[in-house]
Amino acid sequence: MKVGIVGGTGNISTSVVKLLQERGHDVTCITRGSSGALPYGVRHLSGDRNDLDWFVPTVQRERFDAAIDFIGFTPAHGAASLDAFRDVGHFVQTSTVTTVGQTADWLPITEDHPLRPPVPYAVDKVALDRMYQAAYLDRGFPATIVKPSTTYGRKRVVRQVGIDTRWIRRIREGRPILRVGEGTALHHLLHVDDAALGFVGVLERDSTIGQTYFLVNPQPMEWSDIHGVAMDVLGREVEQIDVSAETLYQLDPQRFMMVPGVFAKNLLYSAEKLQRDVPEFRPVVSLHDGLADAFEYLQSHGLVDDVPVGDWEDRVIEIQRDARRRILEG
Ligand SMILES: NC(=O)c1ccc[n+]([C@@H]2O[C@H](COP(=O)([O-])OP(=O)(O)OC[C@H]3O[C@@H](n4cnc5c(N)ncnc54)[C@H](OP(=O)(O)O)[C@@H]3O)[C@@H](O)[C@H]2O)c1
Repeated sequence: MKVGIVGGTGNISTSVVKLLQERGHDVTCITRGSSGALPYGVRHLSGDRNDLDWFVPTVQRERFDAAIDFIGFTPAHGAASLDAFRDVGHFVQTSTVTTVGQTADWLPITEDHPLRPPVPYAVDKVALDRMYQAAYLDRGFPATIVKPSTTYGRKRVVRQVGIDTRWIRRIREGRPILRVGEGTALHHLLHVDDAALGFVGVLERDSTIGQTYFLVNPQPMEWSDIHGVAMDVLGREVEQIDVSAETLYQLDPQRFMMVPGVFAKNLLYSAEKLQRDVPEFRPVVSLHDGLADAFEYLQSHGLVDDVPVGDWEDRVIEIQRDARRRILEG
């Protein structure tokens, strides 16, 4: 198939482009060219999707058989993609499980769960998803909605208190790291290469048109175990110090935005519908191997942040330890 990708050099889309090429598809990516180069053999349309005078006619001329939009975030993006890809045979919108919200009426959460988007990012994703669903119902626009949960790889590693690379440095230096509420909350972490199996499997099947799928690792893990695997990979065990989600949020609402409502909770999503319709979606990258690859890439490319001694995490850890000592000493 002639496949158009909006994005292609990002965290998830890099793996999707690689798998599409391996499966023999003719791939064209639309990026501004600032986030890295595309693999040999992938065509590049260089431009900004927000420049509609360029984006819409350029994409229309291509007459793609299929497309995936990785950077549709606003209703304006939806209107532009509906116009630009109006002749496409299958269109996949990248949405997010965050559209569901921060409370579950049942577990595991299934695709028919009510949507209570908690942040503007998710409100806009819901609006976008509804545009594509309406276009499918009204005029047969061949849309599928894919909703990933936390997806990690070389361009994005995640721990319980957020998305950063500082914990790699801390573990390597033998410094403790924070976790929330004893780290017992369960979370789905999916490697980008496994996410690619889901995206490509959906795209290659007409039977998925009109459907919405969660794209999650069917095997959730406790955060303290996730941190433990990272320590195994880095060859050093450090103490995990507990702090409440609310304390972190009040300390820095921007940095810890995802902690109280998502990373501190057991928001479990079902992978069953995707595995039923795309049987090859069976994650094969172990957390150990996925983190080892990501850490090695980040370290060898100088992408692991420095962590000055006495930074915010050291201070929170010291105060938590002190409070514990005083409670236990009466
Ligand atoms: N990772 C997760 O855990 C997760 C979870 C749920 C949902 N999602 C969804 O996954 C999608 C992100 O996919 P990703 O991780 O592959 O993307 P990403 O890492 O955010 O990368 C963005 C890609 O899009 C290109 N791009 C960005 N702005 C552009 C613009 N204005 N015009 C043209 N190209 C542009 C970038 O290249 P240039 O910079 O060179 O333009 C790059 O190729 C989002 O829709 C997000 O909501 C991710």
